[in-house]
Amino acid sequence: MAFPVTRLRRLRKNTILRGMISETSLSADDLIMPLFVCPGSKVNNPILSMPGNSQLSIDLLLDECAKIMATGVKSVLLFGIPEHKDEHGHVACEHNGIVQKAIRAIKERFGDELLIVADVCNCEYTTHGHCGTIVDGDVDNDLTLETLASQSLSLAQAGADVIAPSDMMDGRVKKIREMLDANGFSQTPIMAYSAKYASGFYGPFREAAESAPKFGDRRSYQMNPANSDEAMREIALDIEEGADMVMVKPALSYLDIIRRCKDTFNIPIAAYSVSGEFAMIKAAGANGWIDEERIMMEVVLSIKRAGADIIITYFAKEIAAILNTPRH
Ligand code: PBG
Repeated sequence: MAFPVTRLRRLRKNTILRGMISETSLSADDLIMPLFVCPGSKVNNPILSMPGNSQLSIDLLLDECAKIMATGVKSVLLFGIPEHKDEHGHVACEHNGIVQKAIRAIKERFGDELLIVADVCNCEYTTHGHCGTIVDGDVDNDLTLETLASQSLSLAQAGADVIAPSDMMDGRVKKIREMLDANGFSQTPIMAYSAKYASGFYGPFREAAESAPKFGDRRSYQMNPANSDEAMREIALDIEEGADMVMVKPALSYLDIIRRCKDTFNIPIAAYSVSGEFAMIKAAGANGWIDEERIMMEVVLSIKRAGADIIITYFAKEIAAILNTPRH
């Protein structure tokens, strides 16, 4: 039945009606806040391209976790800035590695009140900044699987609740699952960065995590932004290998991939709204060119509407604070 009988504006008349027919809702339960942990004590190195985010030593990281929890956010994603790097990323597998120490400290202070997702990758830990072991100028897939598996085990032993491989090597979910299962961690879930694109949006993160590649780029392992069918293959393979959750990354330029994943698979989907997405909104907001808060909420809503169950965002704390105030 068309106009004039049907008038869609009727249900947009006031806030209560609009709220009642809202198809998508946000909750602090959906959000994960990424954090960067570095050596030392009382260290707070602000990341200039990501206002409000810093590299934090463990003592200050604990304070930040308390602030995050106070907003209602219940999960963090940890990245480490190690004291030393090496050729293969072995430092990432050490019992006393920076992230391992941070995980133990968080667990000691907050127990199971805060869910810790541990990013698994070599790029922050290798001298060359690539995500794995280099052979003949490129990352060797199968050699890298070994370090990824031992890094995962070490993070699980430290107390990580979820293991999140972000390297894009073939077969890593299977290898990590086998390693965890063989060592008593069959109950530790894997959140796989399944459709991770070779993206310009990671720029600010690479400053934050000091992980920019020293030569070349990541196009031989991360996905071509032109592809969507291939993302479905990546996701299907990760599910087959044992992923408990899959991820699409970045989020904002890849909403179609999130939606297609949602329509195709029956598995929890995480979307990572990455550093460049955050930086653009912050920069335009700081200039007064956009209403930062409004756009922050609109963007996160669009990611949820596209089909994401979980959203990893540097805005997590700010979004949760707004969700706590009535009328949002
Ligand atoms: C590590 C990793 C990256 C990000 C998350 N894990 C960087 C990269 O692949 O270069 C990017 C996150 C962001 O930009 O916020 N491989």
